[in-house]
Amino acid sequence: MMATGTKSAHILEALRDEQPDQLLALIDDYRRDAREDKIDLGVGVYRDEAGETPVLDAVKAAERRILETQSSKSYLGSEGDPTFTAAVTRLALGAGLASDARVTGVQTPGGTGALRLAAEVAARGDCGRVWLGEPSWPNHAPIFSAAGLPVVAFRSVDPGSGRFDLAVALEALSEARLGDCALLQASCHNPTGADPDVDQWREIGRLLAQRGVLPILDLAYQGLGDGIEQDARGLRAVLEETGQALIAYSCNKNFGLYRERVGALIGVAAGPSAAARLKANMLVLTRALWSMPPDHGAAVVRTILSDPALESCWLRELSMMRERLRSIRRTVAAGHPLLEPIGRQRGLFSMLPITPVQVVELRTRHGIHAAPSGRANLAGLSRTNVERFLRSLEAVVEQRQW
Ligand SMILES: Cc1ncc(COP(=O)(O)O)c(C=O)c1O
Repeated sequence: MMATGTKSAHILEALRDEQPDQLLALIDDYRRDAREDKIDLGVGVYRDEAGETPVLDAVKAAERRILETQSSKSYLGSEGDPTFTAAVTRLALGAGLASDARVTGVQTPGGTGALRLAAEVAARGDCGRVWLGEPSWPNHAPIFSAAGLPVVAFRSVDPGSGRFDLAVALEALSEARLGDCALLQASCHNPTGADPDVDQWREIGRLLAQRGVLPILDLAYQGLGDGIEQDARGLRAVLEETGQALIAYSCNKNFGLYRERVGALIGVAAGPSAAARLKANMLVLTRALWSMPPDHGAAVVRTILSDPALESCWLRELSMMRERLRSIRRTVAAGHPLLEPIGRQRGLFSMLPITPVQVVELRTRHGIHAAPSGRANLAGLSRTNVERFLRSLEAVVEQRQW
């Protein structure tokens, strides 16, 4: 019989208490709210006019094809599906660079897996510090800290204008040293929607190259800002300057595959042998992290990207998502001068110009659920609820501020 109250279980007793993840707690808060006209601006998924996050037609068609043709579920190996990785590498880098022998990569469980693998690669390469523009996705710093890397935060967005603050970013990054990394969001910045323009990206790239800093570019929303090519321009400008980078790619937003956990870590190294060494290191690390990535979502993406009809169906659906986001942004921006920055920001997220107390008031009095930081997922708005959102926002903000 198993002994109870054994004295040897020190480890479990020694664990610290932890608070639940704030963003995940939003899902529960929203679910518990019984008001029929509640609005969800918290959870980071795309929603259509009806408030749904549907499976894309291109995804459904690819899934049907996989169901009919897949003949084995035997292991694929630690690198996952190389055809998938090559296809997303073409999306990120363009066909020319993607086929260069300096470029390598492996499939990962989502963008999160790609970031964690990037952090482990950086740690193996004796990375000194990781420079991270703030505010950022709240999981960025913990992922890199979990790999034992010190994270140095710097302000990258001017809260007043809601614009990327190049001068402040350059000043901070000029303190970076040879062997440091800079973790940068390539487009549709989460949580501010404020991206550098291509010239600013080029300046950042030039500075990183001068300082010997490796860029780690997080591309989690390609196509949801200005378009597939447009959203990769900044990343490619950085690469032209630095010649080397790690790119954490997520297909979970632009293919609407969220729970399928689809992503890749792409590496651009100094030359073919450095790329081969990088890949070998990625594979050793992968084996110890998750052994092999899940297949289904990547098989869906690979099927879509290798069939011109399915690819154009996906591109049409992606452009509908993008246009809806842009149209909501225009409506919100026209709703009040203080909301004007939202019109020129990109992607799903922007910061509402309100305090944490006002965020709580928005939720408790008006049933509008935003993240505690004031981050709003604009996809939670539609033609039917945007007016109510604007009036509620006005009501929670003191008159003098409006
Ligand atoms: C900026 C950013 N990077 C990476 C991710 C990771 O996404 P996933 O792991 O679902 O691919 C997210 C998800 O919200 C994100 O916002």
